[in-house]
Amino acid sequence: MVSFKELGLVNTREMFAKAINGGYAIPAFNFNNMEQLQAIVKACAETKSPVILQVSKGARNYANQTLLRYMAQGAVEYAKELGWEKPQICLHLDHGDSLELCKSCVDFGFSSVMIDASHLPYEENIALTKQVVEYAHAHDVTVEAELGVLAGVEDEVSAEVSHYTKPEEVIDFATRTGCDSLAISIGTSHGAYKFTPEQCTVDPETGRLVPPPLAFDILDAIMEQLPGFPIVLHGSSSVPQEYVDIINANGGKMPNAVGIPEEQLRKAAKSAVCKINIDSDSRLAFTAAVRKVFNDKPGEFDPRKYCGPARDEMEKLYTHKICEVLGSNGKA
Ligand code: G3H
Ligand code: 13P
Ligand code: ZN
Repeated sequence: MVSFKELGLVNTREMFAKAINGGYAIPAFNFNNMEQLQAIVKACAETKSPVILQVSKGARNYANQTLLRYMAQGAVEYAKELGWEKPQICLHLDHGDSLELCKSCVDFGFSSVMIDASHLPYEENIALTKQVVEYAHAHDVTVEAELGVLAGVEDEVSAEVSHYTKPEEVIDFATRTGCDSLAISIGTSHGAYKFTPEQCTVDPETGRLVPPPLAFDILDAIMEQLPGFPIVLHGSSSVPQEYVDIINANGGKMPNAVGIPEEQLRKAAKSAVCKINIDSDSRLAFTAAVRKVFNDKPGEFDPRKYCGPARDEMEKLYTHKICEVLGSNGKA
């Protein structure tokens, strides 16, 4: 049993309170490898942004959970080395699917866990979430729960159709579970294909797909029910078209990849939405940079020569999200 406090990590309680009062959102970036983590820490240290490092079930399977935890611990030390005196770094389990998994992450030094029981019937979601909260809170670990189901398919996290969060359920859910934050469904979804072309319109000038807007009326209704309660948005990648173009121009095939327009995320960040999850955009930045090197220099075989540019591109992306979309720069 190791407490997150011994590792220099923080839970989300203070981060979220400050973010709601300050009208910005905390970036929640997924990581699976060293280059991603280096890019996140550099971007956050340079911009002085608090950050949530997220570990998914897929990441645990890919990179080994022990290694990931020590990497997060290393991230705190690396941040200090970069001149960030008091790094505000949270280590979070993304989409935890059982009490056992959440408990093991709490015992292992995570400072925050998500229990995603949103696919279960309402009362079962409450019962499981409540059990996780009881265990986590005993160790001062914060808990994110989810109400409503996101559409989209991504590795371990899948749902055929979305069910928007019902505002009339949120008070009962938050009160009975005691969760610290609530992930809601208002039209975002996981992955790089968030909407079908049929769901979009076409910009006559650029020919690009324009996605339908998020359901801000539902967000407003939720905030009215739970004033000041921390809200989380999953599936918030914007799928930058420049990356899609580079990927497609360098041997990739990503037709009709589309995400959430940044102006909508900017608007959400100013509200009670205080955690915004971004994973796919970092995958796109990485892939675009690697594909370009492979195409431009077919003889290159030193991984540092293509993972290095990929890391630089991800750092640029994270910095952009922090400073231009979420507004979390200078807040840590
Ligand atoms: O919520 C989904 C995240 O992007 C994690 O995806 O399960 O493929 O690691 P993953
Ligand atoms: P994206 O696929 O839009 O990056 O969402 C990531 C996410 O929600 C992680 O939990
Ligand atoms: Zn998610």
